[in-house]
Amino acid sequence: MTLSTLALAKSAPMIPVIVIEELAHAVPLAKALVAGGITTLEVTLRTPVALDAIRAIAAEVEGAVVGAGTLRKVADVAACIDAGCQFGVSPGSPAALMDAVQEAGFPFLPGCASPTEAMVLAERGFEVLKFFPAGAAGGVKMLSSLASPLADVAFCPTGGVSLKNAKDYLALPNVVTVGGSWVCPPDMARAEDWAGIERLARA
Ligand code: 3PG
Repeated sequence: MTLSTLALAKSAPMIPVIVIEELAHAVPLAKALVAGGITTLEVTLRTPVALDAIRAIAAEVEGAVVGAGTLRKVADVAACIDAGCQFGVSPGSPAALMDAVQEAGFPFLPGCASPTEAMVLAERGFEVLKFFPAGAAGGVKMLSSLASPLADVAFCPTGGVSLKNAKDYLALPNVVTVGGSWVCPPDMARAEDWAGIERLARA
């Protein structure tokens, strides 16, 4: 099923940025997040097991909408679709990658950190942009400044977002959801602390 990126982002309380180091962690970690109320999951392509982890979550975790993060190359697009990803996310927006996701009709949140990048992506038809790295690129103040001139552009700020400041971002009219790694810290995954991850997700 092809999703509307805007509907997907609006339905997500937040999008966890997940780094899976061990394939065996994929399913229990995803189940913990879903149990805690977070169902839209971004598994980053930063480890060798990422695509297999996505395959496992797509097959075994009921209620999860699994996508991939950190897409950087054109070849990543076909690999992610083949693994069962329902959406993709990138920290940036190189033209060749944007052409590939649009040709494939793959729901996608491309990355941007400036007004010009946001304008180019909106002109191409992307509905929701990952504002990255949100904190370092100007945070709430920067996004607030874009709300009037680029009123039709929706953002998912990611990078430096936490439980503490997520509400400030979400209060902005142009922010539909936020992304972040704080709900699945690598040390908790290494310790297989699924109950702890579920608690973070619920918070
Ligand atoms: C990302 O990949 O989107 C960021 O690394 C997540 O940033 P965070 O760790 O500050 O949440």
